[in-house]
Amino acid sequence: MEPKIKKYDLLIKNGTVHTAVESFESEIGVSEGKIAAIGKNLGHSERIIDAKGLLVLPGGIDAHCHIEQESSSKIMTADDFYSGSVSAAFGGNTTILPFAAQHRGQSLRDVVANARKRAKDKAVIDYGLHLIISDPSKSVLEDELPSLIKEGYTSFKVYMTYEMLKINDGEILDILALARKYGALTMVHAENNEIINWISDRLTQRGYNAPKFHAVSHSHIAESEASRRAIDLARLVDARMLIVHVSDAEAANSILQARNNELNIYGETCPQYLFLTAKDLDQEGMEGAKYCCSPPPRDKESQKAIWKGLKNGTFQVFSSDHAPYRLDKSGKFHAGKDVSFNKIANGVPGLETRMPLLFSEGVGKGRITINEFVALTSTNAAKIYGLYPRKGSLVIGGDADIAIWDPKWVRTIKQEMLHDNMDYTPYEGMKVKGWPRIVINRGRIAVEDEKLKVERGSGKFLPRTPAETCREQPISSPLSPSRNFGAKLL
Ligand code: URP
Ligand code: ZN
Ligand code: ZN
Repeated sequence: MEPKIKKYDLLIKNGTVHTAVESFESEIGVSEGKIAAIGKNLGHSERIIDAKGLLVLPGGIDAHCHIEQESSSKIMTADDFYSGSVSAAFGGNTTILPFAAQHRGQSLRDVVANARKRAKDKAVIDYGLHLIISDPSKSVLEDELPSLIKEGYTSFKVYMTYEMLKINDGEILDILALARKYGALTMVHAENNEIINWISDRLTQRGYNAPKFHAVSHSHIAESEASRRAIDLARLVDARMLIVHVSDAEAANSILQARNNELNIYGETCPQYLFLTAKDLDQEGMEGAKYCCSPPPRDKESQKAIWKGLKNGTFQVFSSDHAPYRLDKSGKFHAGKDVSFNKIANGVPGLETRMPLLFSEGVGKGRITINEFVALTSTNAAKIYGLYPRKGSLVIGGDADIAIWDPKWVRTIKQEMLHDNMDYTPYEGMKVKGWPRIVINRGRIAVEDEKLKVERGSGKFLPRTPAETCREQPISSPLSPSRNFGAKLL
């Protein structure tokens, strides 16, 4: 008998491979953390995974999550880089993109150094960092941001609402213009702050304080107006922009229209806008606080519009916006237990449930294809945020980031089975079909047999590449160059 020669460190056999564009039967050979071969009869390996009946997908990229991040009201998220990354891994992710958040007066450099320090000895899967810019001072714009972009922090979020985070339209333009110059991407939280405050004041003056009024105050018009305005600001300076956590049909329409007009506008939505509604906030006592996030969950019609947007090219990215605040003084109720809706910490958890929920309700119920699922949960984020093709794909030479899904695994979501540091999940009791059995990051088995297999701190930081094409060649615009004068001022 011929001796068996070791060829790969890991070989995945008998599974069906699904990428963002195609599905095929194939083996995958992994060597030194990279995909070394894709094909039939690849040979031998130290370790063989039999994926019969299972789906072999690129590992998920959760491109919007808040981990070990201090809010502007000085509350810390319940998850640190350990619990957050472990939870993400159990949900099929191999990469996360949380934020290094600047609060006013802080140096961006210090903020980044601090986030890197927090992540370094804790993350179990790979991670990059977006920035949050709340203080675009001269030194930030002229010095810190250009050099940070070159070092791989190629995307940043700005807020049009939240008193302590919001910046004005002129400041957004400054950031967009800079992002365009250096090939970075601006992410925008688009809600009109004045509208929200105006409604909130009238509600609280009349004694309407319950959590359900959070959804009333964050009117969908606040979101649609701000989204249109944000798109126009990006249009003025011909910059790339991604509107995060879209909940509203009109906002979604504006994004689609902009994309149809060949503007470099991208859209992101999240599970809370597919599976929750404002009715979830309308419960006894403070129970509704569990579902207070911004923008808020809306109604069944909005859910339908969001599903449609996942199918018709409005949304490229499906993220969790995991913003974990526990139901106590450390989180949701930092300002007290019986406070009015506008004092409740905003955000819902969702790192671990993002992909199973979309798989079950999207792929399982025929709303999206498995290839669209891969694009929305992994590939598009890799492309947009400068990680492709190293991440988000199954290609020779790319990182062996692979999630092996069991499409028949039926699970009822319960907080006790999740691995985050939360005390509730908004999806408690939901039955889902399909969950990853094995999750592999850079060739290392991260999760198998419902157990974590990687060490604390073994995740790697991912510097990201700026979008060259954006910097050198402004995208074609339907506007005549003379009307689009803002771009010429850059
Ligand atoms: O309510 C939310 N989404 N909180 C998290 C912070 C943010 O704006 O994304
Ligand atoms: Zn936001
Ligand atoms: Zn967020």
